[in-house]
Amino acid sequence: HHYVIILAGGIGSRLWPKSLIAKPKQFLDILNIGKTLIQQTYERFVPFIKKENIFVITHQDYLRFAQQQLPDLAIENILVEPSRKSTAPCVTYISMKLMARDPEANLIIAPSDHIIFDTEVFSQFVLTALDFSAHLNSLVTLGIKPLYPNTGYGYIQYETREVASDIYKVKTFTEKPNLELAKVFIESGEFLWNSGIFIWRAKSVLKAIEKHLPELYEIFDAEKEYLNTPQEREALDRIYPLCTNISIDFAIMEKSENVYVIPSSFGWSDLGTWNSTYENLEKDYLGNAVHGKHILVIDATKCMISANNNKLVVLQGLDDFIVIDTPETLLVCKKDKEQEIKDYIAEVKRNF
Ligand code: GDD
Ligand code: MG
Repeated sequence: HHYVIILAGGIGSRLWPKSLIAKPKQFLDILNIGKTLIQQTYERFVPFIKKENIFVITHQDYLRFAQQQLPDLAIENILVEPSRKSTAPCVTYISMKLMARDPEANLIIAPSDHIIFDTEVFSQFVLTALDFSAHLNSLVTLGIKPLYPNTGYGYIQYETREVASDIYKVKTFTEKPNLELAKVFIESGEFLWNSGIFIWRAKSVLKAIEKHLPELYEIFDAEKEYLNTPQEREALDRIYPLCTNISIDFAIMEKSENVYVIPSSFGWSDLGTWNSTYENLEKDYLGNAVHGKHILVIDATKCMISANNNKLVVLQGLDDFIVIDTPETLLVCKKDKEQEIKDYIAEVKRNF
């Protein structure tokens, strides 16, 4: 009953201008290792989940990228959404769809913007979680030891008593706190970051959605009979305009009482932002991560520089900057303002 759902419909706005709405980060080889993020995600699961039980869910504009990059995956395992409504509608859709085929379907929800260093250990944690969620109405997430007050993550506080091997009951879940709160969480030592990798039965998450977001549940429930039929696409075209845009973290994880966490240690990094990408690239002796061919760096420290064009880039005297050059756009931004890059895109759209 094990399934993997790879979420691949986001636009990766904080990795702009490299990640573009036209081709977002999950379809790019951000670290230059020869594989795109979605390919890495897929390969992580192939050793222990049957291929026919691996699904990708993305926006219809990205269908061609998913098909090109995952030629192994059956066409019917790539599901498309007609519009972008964040992760709560997408989880509702796939859960209802699979539940109709397999009432005991036990799902791994896998974002496609992560790197995981120790895939062996990773699969052990996932199997532990699957074992647990198979028998209990539970929502399990993999937690990560936090390093600094990053405001782009969910924060998990958990009880100290183990309920099963490696598994703890979650006391509070706070999605994307402000900086002050994130600092308090980190200083307390009681919190983990949410990896965004969830393990639950379709049945359990649907119960939570029905309870905490009944409107969304009903929108899908009303069209349920069309799922897994040739009319599924048309049904989605009716459903999606009615859905609110909300993530599973805000909609369900913050509100549910039956959340459990596995504090994990498989070397995890999110590639959500330029800083996290910087953390994962090799640096020169002054701490600059330089990504590209024709770049001359003089007296600069701790910069994230990416320029893959045939243009020569000379950079002098910058400390703690992000410098990203693409054919269309040059971004120069202070590293500690990276969460604001999202807002710049809106500003750019208004003005140009
Ligand atoms: N199909 C689909 N449709 N996928 C989507 C959509 C959508 O509308 N929106 C986002 N996704 C995909 C993204 O492509 C990504 O793989 C995953 O869902 C998570 O979305 P993000 O937008 O990257 O979420 P986040 O990084 O802000 O926050 C989540 O991940 C953090 C860890 O990286 C949360 O779960 C946080 O709590 C967590 O700490
Ligand atoms: Mg992310």
